[in-house]
Formats: sequence, C-alpha cells, structure tokens
Amino acid sequence: MSEAPNRWDHDVEVMIDAERIAARTRELGQEITAFYKNSPVCVISILKGSVIFAADLVRALDLPLSMEFVGISSYGNETESSGVVQITADLTRSIEGLDVLIVEDIIDTGLTMRYLLENLATRHPKSLRVCTLLHKPEGARVKVPMDWVGFTIPNAFVIGYGLDYAGLYRNLPYIGVYRGPTSED
Ligand code: PRP
Repeated sequence: MSEAPNRWDHDVEVMIDAERIAARTRELGQEITAFYKNSPVCVISILKGSVIFAADLVRALDLPLSMEFVGISSYGNETESSGVVQITADLTRSIEGLDVLIVEDIIDTGLTMRYLLENLATRHPKSLRVCTLLHKPEGARVKVPMDWVGFTIPNAFVIGYGLDYAGLYRNLPYIGVYRGPTSED
C-alpha cells in the first residue's frame, strides 16, 4: 500500500456488495425515520468519504431535513488517522437548538469523530447523533458514541462507495479491499 495507484486497473476483493449496502441503508432509513418521528433534522455529511452514503441515506429518510457538509483533513500517513484534525470547510448555518445527525462513511480509530463531536457540541445543538456506514472496532483508539451502524467490519483497508485510496475508487458501487494493480507495468 506504499505507492499510489496511477491507473484504473485494480484488484479489489468485494467485501459488501451494492445490494447489501442498499438493503442496509433502507433499514437504517426506517430506523432513523422512526426515531425522529417527523421532527426536523439537520444531516451533516462529513467530506469527502460520506457523500455517497449520505446521498443514499437521506433518500431513505421520510423526514423534514436539511443537509450540511463539513470538510475535514487529518494529518498522518495514508492509511492511519493521526487524530490531528482540521476543519477545511465549515457549516453554512448555525446548528444551535437543532437535532443534528452526523453521517460518516467509517469510524476507525474514532479520533475524527471525537474531534467532530467535541467541535459541534460547542455550537449547542439540541441533540447530536451519529450514523456511520462502517465501524472497524479493531482500529478503535478512543470510544465514540455510535447511534446507527451499517456494518461492523474487520481490520482491512477498505475502498469504494465513498472511501478512497489516494483519492481514487470513491465511485466503486461496493465496499472492497484494495489488493493493488492487476498487472505489472
Ligand atoms: C476517513 C473517514 C472518516 C475518518 C475515520 O476520512 O471518512 O472521516 O477517516 O477515521 P478515524 O476513525 O481513524 O479518525 P479521511 O481522512 O480518509 O478523508 P476523506 O473522507 O476525505 O477520504
């Protein structure tokens, strides 16, 4: 995993196919819809990885909702979060007094979510909840609350459905494990 991919030939082992993602997203949508019971919700999608999941999840929510986005950059190597997090794009509105649902693609070490929760809590939302598509418990360095989890996964470097390797593969319709390029140059 040391060299960035420079072409589209790739060997990926499918971990969660598109049908399973769609079915689980519908279930999460029903659970979250039932939880908020017609109350307005501000859905915050964390850039960039959660965009694909958030786009599908909100269409499974039968609720009055608004969407916001927060851009995050974390400093560290390519495959491990350092926990030193910076907001690169902030909310466009106040969340004071709102029911807020953070949507993430993956919680691994938990360091990004811990930072986000601490940061957003200072803005005094009425409630702050978390929905993550993936949870990798073996990677946990800090414990963070997770209200809805799509799939608990083993400790592999996953790509697709929003998750990248060196900026690529976010557009794969499934979650997979990157095995490298398919052939030698
Ligand atoms: C990924 C993911 C989470 C974070 C989780 O973001 O989207 O925000 O890592 O890792 P952690 O639990 O170990 O902190 P990434 O930094 O890869 O940025 P991206 O979403 O723009 O790809």
